[in-house]
Amino acid sequence: MEVIVAKSAGFCFGVQRAMDMLMDEVDKGNFPLYTYGPIIHNETVVEDLNRKGVRVIDSLDDLRKITEGTVVIRTHGVGPEVYKILEDNGVNIIDATCPFVKKIHETVRKKASEGYHMYIAGDASHPEIQGIMGWCEDAKTDVISDANELYEVLSDKDELSCLVAQTTFNTKKFKDIVEVFEKSMYNSNVVNTICNATNERQDEARQLASRADAMIVIGGRNSSNTRKLYEICKEQCERTYFVQTLEDFAFRRDDDIKLIGITAGASTPKNIIKEVQNHVRREF
Ligand code: F3S
Repeated sequence: MEVIVAKSAGFCFGVQRAMDMLMDEVDKGNFPLYTYGPIIHNETVVEDLNRKGVRVIDSLDDLRKITEGTVVIRTHGVGPEVYKILEDNGVNIIDATCPFVKKIHETVRKKASEGYHMYIAGDASHPEIQGIMGWCEDAKTDVISDANELYEVLSDKDELSCLVAQTTFNTKKFKDIVEVFEKSMYNSNVVNTICNATNERQDEARQLASRADAMIVIGGRNSSNTRKLYEICKEQCERTYFVQTLEDFAFRRDDDIKLIGITAGASTPKNIIKEVQNHVRREF
């Protein structure tokens, strides 16, 4: 029996980089050590980090109270206000903002300072968008989630206008927004800032599941990207199983199974993928 683990299973480049930067600080013993928001959406990982002494700061008010130690900024990035608070308080900053998100900050900061009206395709309540909005500073800024919303906020046709997107924004929806944007504005500037990590993971899972006799999707129950992966695999492969850790691994050996595929959501650490993979190789 063959076992194939998807190459894109688990952490994307940005999350892996952020985890490495945080673990570096833990290994060096640089305490007190904080992350602004949980470093990833995985309770097991966050609890484990807590045992190692890494505390999560959940609000700007709590951040203001930190006057010593190190704060790690996670992949989503933050606006200039957060850097200012930490600098004023003399706190050491480890900036694990994903370089793809950093690039959006640079783009919007430059365009905003040139007088552009900024349009951001994304979810206004998401921390990544809040950080991007911070870098738009005093420029007119609108966050839109689809083409209809864009119609509602479009202003003067001659105005300089720039459109960017949240890194995880839906590609198809962005295309629709761009179409309306370019048709409606004479001085439009579109920068496609969508990151392909999510799409690549989903495409690879789809292909693997279409060949596999059984498919295992590893990830947190509350992780929406893992649920989505599960649905994609289930469409291709009836015997698709969702596991959070090795403990809830329930499926048994079956002679009909010749190929097992394994994939994992964006917040699943490598060691859990490895454990499941070893178990499958041993038991099947
Ligand atoms: Fe990951 Fe950075 Fe893309 S955090 S999903 S590589 S924008």
